[in-house]
Amino acid sequence: MAACVIISGSPYAQGKCARSARAIAKALGATSGTTVTLFSIAEMDIHGCIGCDTCKDTGTCIYEDDEVKVHAAIDGADLVVIISPIYFAGVPSQLKALLDRFQPYFWKRQELIADQQSLPPKRPLILGLVGEGGDPYGTEAAFVTLASPLALADLGVVDRFSFIQASETMIVEQLKVSIEKIQGGEA
Ligand SMILES: Cc1cc2nc3c(=O)[nH]c(=O)nc-3n(C[C@H](O)[C@H](O)[C@H](O)COP(=O)(O)O)c2cc1C
Repeated sequence: MAACVIISGSPYAQGKCARSARAIAKALGATSGTTVTLFSIAEMDIHGCIGCDTCKDTGTCIYEDDEVKVHAAIDGADLVVIISPIYFAGVPSQLKALLDRFQPYFWKRQELIADQQSLPPKRPLILGLVGEGGDPYGTEAAFVTLASPLALADLGVVDRFSFIQASETMIVEQLKVSIEKIQGGEA
């Protein structure tokens, strides 16, 4: 595996997701041949999409903020891992802002479809949702919220986990196993 992107979707820089993402990035970074790019939503400035559709014509967003770095890293990634808290059966608004900014990918895909060009193969995506439980609506909506925009960037879910009342160690170990499984499959 050459390039791995890890995103913590928590707005809390010292929370479970951010800490787990840092631990996984550190472990992966020590693996020979793997480059890791780590993003923490808590430390990023990302404007929400306003639906102006400028990206339909230009291919890029009117906002030149931290999203630009995320798209560049995702475009060059062999594997993407997202670790996010569940907020009211969805994802935190700060992460949703990042996801809504995937609209340029939507228009690019529409162009390919209109030109009857083949769509690129999907690259692997691992999702980890972290919650305390107790919400009757569960985690399915949050998984779909993540999978939908990421599919437009040619990423397909290969593994997904609901970490309810899980320790940081459990989260890190489970995701490391999942990443190693994918890396092993490629070798
Ligand atoms: C606004 C808010 C809404 C939440 N909604 C849910 C929920 O619907 N389901 C759930 O399991 N946990 C929910 N939680 C708990 C968080 O997902 C949990 O505390 C998580 O570990 C936070 O991750 P972090 O420590 O990385 O920030 C909610 C927490 C907050 C602050």
